[in-house]
Amino acid sequence: TDLTAFAHGLPKAELHLHLEGTLEPELKFALAAKNGIELDQKTVDDVKASYDFTDLTSFLAVYYPAMQVLQTADDFHDLAWEYLQRAKAQGVVHVEMFFDPQAHTSRGVPFAEVITGYRRAAVRAQDELGISAELILCFLRDFSAEYAMATLMEALPYKAWIVGVGLDSDERGNPPEKFAAVFARARAEGFFLTMHCDIDQVGSIDNIRTVLEDIQVDRIDHGTNIVEDPALVDAAIAKGIGFTTCPVSNSFVTDQMKSEEIVSLLRKGARVMVNSDDPAYFGGYVGDNYVALAEQAGLTATDLVQLAINSFEASWLTARRREAFV
Ligand code: ADE
Ligand code: ZN
Repeated sequence: TDLTAFAHGLPKAELHLHLEGTLEPELKFALAAKNGIELDQKTVDDVKASYDFTDLTSFLAVYYPAMQVLQTADDFHDLAWEYLQRAKAQGVVHVEMFFDPQAHTSRGVPFAEVITGYRRAAVRAQDELGISAELILCFLRDFSAEYAMATLMEALPYKAWIVGVGLDSDERGNPPEKFAAVFARARAEGFFLTMHCDIDQVGSIDNIRTVLEDIQVDRIDHGTNIVEDPALVDAAIAKGIGFTTCPVSNSFVTDQMKSEEIVSLLRKGARVMVNSDDPAYFGGYVGDNYVALAEQAGLTATDLVQLAINSFEASWLTARRREAFV
């Protein structure tokens, strides 16, 4: 339709994208064959049949085991490069991509393999696709704070390749304050900060308050439950906090896109935008997410333009570029 063409063609930044969540079944089989790994599933349809998610936990139970096929810098490069080409086809001109180094170091893959492969794809995206691509290091919140701090130390030699740090994986029992010291150190090292505050977690409004007031993040990933506390919404808007929402992902892990919450934030003037999260698993890249939200919530082309403007305003592009040129 016209709306689809418009949504896909709109220049946009993608700010909530897990590189490990872009592993399409075809690449999974190719890497398994290359690395001599035997997979339980034999066909692309088998793999897709296992994508039966009802919540975040059931998604993560599929997401982590699939990563065993990623072994070398070339594999990480190939994963990111395939994503970047798909993103280009859906109008992405700037992307800040999450990666989960502990999902690899915890199974014996060196940090250097992970980051050098991803970085090579990011540089190639600039050269060959005209996309500026940055990396955000995400700590896995179900591992210890000590392991997160050790990962941050391991990343410092690669600081120039990492724009910010984030926090993902299972929020239950792993509140933001567990990582307060890690994020304080990351801020002191000059990284921008973001954290997942997943929707529909028990106590999520308290976690949102903690990340805004105590951790002092620059953005919140998901975080749409903030609408429960209008005063907190006003405070977030005053600070220019970005909200990186993911409607198609929401519809898998919660049964709903959370379109009312997203549109409420949009109408109030919050820096909310739309992203794809784990597109290979949830079946929609970023342009598809714009279309899905627009159809669900009856958004106009003007609304989609505002979401795209918000994506740049909430990005860390300007600050980074400014530093590079002064
Ligand atoms: N890891 C990958 N995708 C995630 C998500 N949406 N929430 C938490 N952890 C994740
Ligand atoms: Zn996410």
